[in-house]
Amino acid sequence: MSIPITLESVVFVYPDGTRALDGVDLRIGSGEQVAIVGQNGSGKSTLVRQLNGLLRPTEGRVLIDGTDAAALHVAQLAAKVGLAFQNPDRQIFAGRVRAEVAFGPRNLGRADADVERAVDEALEAVGLSRTGEANPYDLGYSRRKLLAIASILAMRTPVVILDEPTTGQDARGVARVRAIIERLSEEGRTVVTISHDMRFVAETARRIVVMRAGRIALDGTPAEVFAEPNWPALASTYLEPTLPARVGARLGLVGTPTEAALVEAIGASRPVG
Ligand SMILES: Nc1ncnc2c1ncn2[C@@H]1O[C@H](COP(=O)(O)OP(=O)(O)OP(=O)(O)O)[C@@H](O)[C@H]1O
Ligand SMILES: [Mg+2]
Repeated sequence: MSIPITLESVVFVYPDGTRALDGVDLRIGSGEQVAIVGQNGSGKSTLVRQLNGLLRPTEGRVLIDGTDAAALHVAQLAAKVGLAFQNPDRQIFAGRVRAEVAFGPRNLGRADADVERAVDEALEAVGLSRTGEANPYDLGYSRRKLLAIASILAMRTPVVILDEPTTGQDARGVARVRAIIERLSEEGRTVVTISHDMRFVAETARRIVVMRAGRIALDGTPAEVFAEPNWPALASTYLEPTLPARVGARLGLVGTPTEAALVEAIGASRPVG
């Protein structure tokens, strides 16, 4: 239940002439778990919209499971790639939470019983099980965001893309999003998460792709991307390495520690009593 994605020299120009993607080459392997980061306007959302046919490349190619996406209809792509929008209000249109989540799997032609089960599971995963009959617009922004994620989960696509899933979430919401990503990954699905939250990314992602001005500036594991030689490149796209990465470098720790590992390292180097 997992497929690779490839972008080959993808250029995307909006109708007003904005060159949002300026030659992107990226391969995301089957079952990989990748975060895309970069300053506002660097092209992150434009990039992921190429993957489900919402936008089509101006130049270059997108391959989904080896097939040129240009040869696939939006409906065919929807069965393979689920994208939870950055702005949930552009995604949500139903008057009831359950109906919203049921729309995707029903549209994919799934049987009623499967749709119901998928809706239950998706609402459970985002913590909205008891809100099924609510009007989405009576929920706050952070819960509409979770609803938009649930709608994508219910489609059970081999590729799941979450555009800024942690925006507006409190610690519990962030923990939920992390658990969702980890579970999808364990199931072997290909997961792409866009985020501004460097701590979240450093502690969740296995691979980080850094975008700057429509191009890929850095690509590697969190330890590689947040390593000291890359700090100027990160700064050029207004990203800061995490505090543990900076303190870890000062302490001469190898790699990029998580917050917990850093606390442990400092604790171990300090005489007790
Ligand atoms: N519909 C549109 N029409 C014209 N230009 C657009 C449109 N959507 C985005 N852009 C422009 O394309 C560039 C890339 O935007 P995009 O939304 O992909 O960036 P992003 O990295 O997702 O930013 P953010 O972090 O703010 O979400 C920006 O210059 C943006 O202003
Ligand atoms: Mg965006």
